[in-house]
Amino acid sequence: MLKSCGRKLLLSLVGSMFTCLLVLMSLGAARPAGQGAPGLRSFADYFGRLSRARREMPAAPPSPPRPPAEDISPRDVFIAVKTTKKFHKARLELLLDTWISRNRDMTFIFTDGEDEELKKQARNVINTNCSAAHSRQALSCKMAVEYDKFIESGRKWFCHVDDDNYVNVRTLVKLLSSYPHTQDIYIGKPSLDRPIQATERISENKMHPVHFWFATGGAGFCISRGLALKMSPWASGGHFMSTAEKIRLPDDCTIGYIIESVLGVKLIRSNLFHSHLENLHQVPKTEIHKQVTLSYGMFENKRNSIHMKGAFSVEEDPSRFRSVHCLLYPDTPWCPANVVY
Ligand SMILES: *[C@@H]1O[C@H](CO)[C@@H](O)[C@H](O)[C@H]1NC(C)=O
Repeated sequence: MLKSCGRKLLLSLVGSMFTCLLVLMSLGAARPAGQGAPGLRSFADYFGRLSRARREMPAAPPSPPRPPAEDISPRDVFIAVKTTKKFHKARLELLLDTWISRNRDMTFIFTDGEDEELKKQARNVINTNCSAAHSRQALSCKMAVEYDKFIESGRKWFCHVDDDNYVNVRTLVKLLSSYPHTQDIYIGKPSLDRPIQATERISENKMHPVHFWFATGGAGFCISRGLALKMSPWASGGHFMSTAEKIRLPDDCTIGYIIESVLGVKLIRSNLFHSHLENLHQVPKTEIHKQVTLSYGMFENKRNSIHMKGAFSVEEDPSRFRSVHCLLYPDTPWCPANVVY
């Protein structure tokens, strides 16, 4: 009873997008009593924590601008967009029409099925050959390919986003240029108000508790090349999958585990990254152009998107991404002229 209720709630909350926390919850439901997800006793506990996190998170003050550390260009950044064949039309087309259209060389689409149409529209499409299932293993499989392709690319920064994120590339490049790419930098938005508790499997029957912060994958996060290279023993080749199995957590948690728990590097929190699991109405209208990522989706059974007047009505542009794009790039041919913001 509780299980099926929890599952329904889970589905209505997040649609089909998983994050670390929500997978934790479904893992808890799938396992026999007494072997629930680490640190989470019940769904009530889980939701209590999540709403506590929501109450406390938006109050964070804006980060002060940092002086540039390095002169980088968009070509130095590798943006991995994670998607699945089912969403090529429903989600990717919107991104291809908007932010990706201005940043084709830096964007790499990681999917799980062949699509000749998509290959014509996008420059870099990688079929990961991972399962299209929304399982922990399938998600880790994609992250493993993203990591390997980034290392191969030789670029200075790795950023991961989902197919429901708008990336403001100008502010992203500006943010990254305030850190040296040779140093250990992991930047994103934590999804909880405290570190996550997990259990590390050391051998067949030896477990070890660990706690660490992680950046929520649904908001996007970035890693410097210097740090990515240090992650190699736990992330390259098939190692990412086995690391994820060792702690039984999904892709974005596994990244946090390798960086914070194994390598001892701290997550730099940024409130310029946004996922659909936060109330996007709270992004101030006057600050939209300063954000690094935006999202849209469902939140507490209501449509969740940023709140702005813009070039298009909510009916024409429910995600608000087309309006955001016209705000940032008013010279786009399909943007109406003389919009008053
Ligand atoms: C997926 O499979 C195809 C066909 O076998 C192969 O060409 C491609 O390199 C594979 N992709 C990855 C990321 O390994």
